[in-house]
Amino acid sequence: MACLASLVLAAGQGTRMKSRHPKVLHHLLGKPMLKYVINAAQAAGAEPVIIVVGFEGQKVIDTIGTGHQYVWQKEQLGTGHAVMMAREKLADMAGEVLVLYGDTPLLKPETLKQLVTIKRSQNVAATILTTTMNDPKGYGRIVRNTEGNIVAIIEEKDANPEQKAINEVNTGVYCFDIQALLAALDRLTPNNAQGEYYLTDVFEIFVSQGLKVAGMLLEDSQEVMGPNDRIQLAKTEEYLKMAINERLMAEGVTIVDPKFTYIDPEVTIGRDTIILPGTFINGKTTIGENCVIGPHTRIVNSVIGAGTEIQFSQIIEAQIGIDNSIGPFAYIRPGTISEANVKFGDFVEIKNCSIGAGSKVPHLTYLGDTELGKDVNIGAGTITCNYDGVNKHKTIIKDNSFIGSNSNLVAPVTIGSNVTIAAGSTITKDVPDGSLGIARSRQEVRMNWKSPRQKQEQE
Ligand code: UD1
Ligand code: CA
Repeated sequence: MACLASLVLAAGQGTRMKSRHPKVLHHLLGKPMLKYVINAAQAAGAEPVIIVVGFEGQKVIDTIGTGHQYVWQKEQLGTGHAVMMAREKLADMAGEVLVLYGDTPLLKPETLKQLVTIKRSQNVAATILTTTMNDPKGYGRIVRNTEGNIVAIIEEKDANPEQKAINEVNTGVYCFDIQALLAALDRLTPNNAQGEYYLTDVFEIFVSQGLKVAGMLLEDSQEVMGPNDRIQLAKTEEYLKMAINERLMAEGVTIVDPKFTYIDPEVTIGRDTIILPGTFINGKTTIGENCVIGPHTRIVNSVIGAGTEIQFSQIIEAQIGIDNSIGPFAYIRPGTISEANVKFGDFVEIKNCSIGAGSKVPHLTYLGDTELGKDVNIGAGTITCNYDGVNKHKTIIKDNSFIGSNSNLVAPVTIGSNVTIAAGSTITKDVPDGSLGIARSRQEVRMNWKSPRQKQEQE
């Protein structure tokens, strides 16, 4: 059966990163570079995706995870050699394989689809994505004959001055006829300046066999940017960040300072939401319409309801309802779920809590493993003592209750509805609906009391 497979080369070290980690695992907006390439291949319809790993290969496999096939290239003898490692996996397949390098994270699925379409419609052995560069240094040059057909790719290190002057370069993105590729691989030799098996040599082999290859010229060479060092990594991230921010702005989100706003690729944001500077929105976060987020806020893998405002705060793995007001300086931790119109004010930490509509936690509070009803008011300095050193326990506070300032609620404990807890109480027993809970020592007043100083002055 004809298929579209993909082979991603990710065995190299990436020496110029000066890193213990393989280059393809360096992050761009929270995700390893290699993941972007795999996603692009999948979005273009490639199945299976086969990844060639080598340097720190187990780390690559552990990071990228299951759902893909892996082959090992123990010794990195060149890009052609890397493809050879997948020979057995490709041998039984008919159709095409997209060969990609793991360090081109900006590649778009549409570009890959086009490359496949050209390969099929022109009935050639391979298509190759090319682009032109003012400074083509370091790239393989595309050599064409007088009719304009591609006849070879020459690496920088093997190029003569005339070839070096060519500014059409190989992007390292190809669509091959699988069987033609396998046949050509058998004929690769390492007779070149680097002593490597170059994948790029298969084009010359195709031409010598009378097979045709076609080029597809990419207008925007930024799309195939392949960061080799950390300076280029930062530039690539900047490009990616701006592309995401510009897409969101085009969709109706206000981003006040796009250069100082970091939004991951999978984040979705509703219209008329305003993102203020210094904000990081990570992972699979969804933000509704008409929110104001930031300044200086970090949101990770969370859902934020429409109309919510969050400033100077961190929200991690939480589900925030509509029209909430959060911060400044709130820390909302995993497992927290709030309904509509909830307020989390300054210096509050909320962990694994469900908070009913209209409830307020305005300041200086820790709530952990707590279930709050509707319209509950939590006074300043309230602490749920949810941890006994071994186990976590639950606190339940029902609708319309009022917790006075500086109270300790020692879990497990249930506070009924319409309860008042007197300020400064340490509550260790359940408090029934409609009652007052007070647990503090009584105040004493001593009349005409003299302090030691006052006594001294009298003497
Ligand atoms: C390669 C191309 C060059 C092209 C450039 C585009 C060859 C011979 N040259 O050069 O024409 O202009 O990419 O960026 O293909 N890899 C392995 N095993 C190896 C060697 C490399 O898996 O033995 C992987 C690397 O991890 C990397 C990719 O292949 O992801 C490309 O290798 P790299 O060394 O960066 O190739 P370039 O010299 O940039
Ligand atoms: Ca490279």
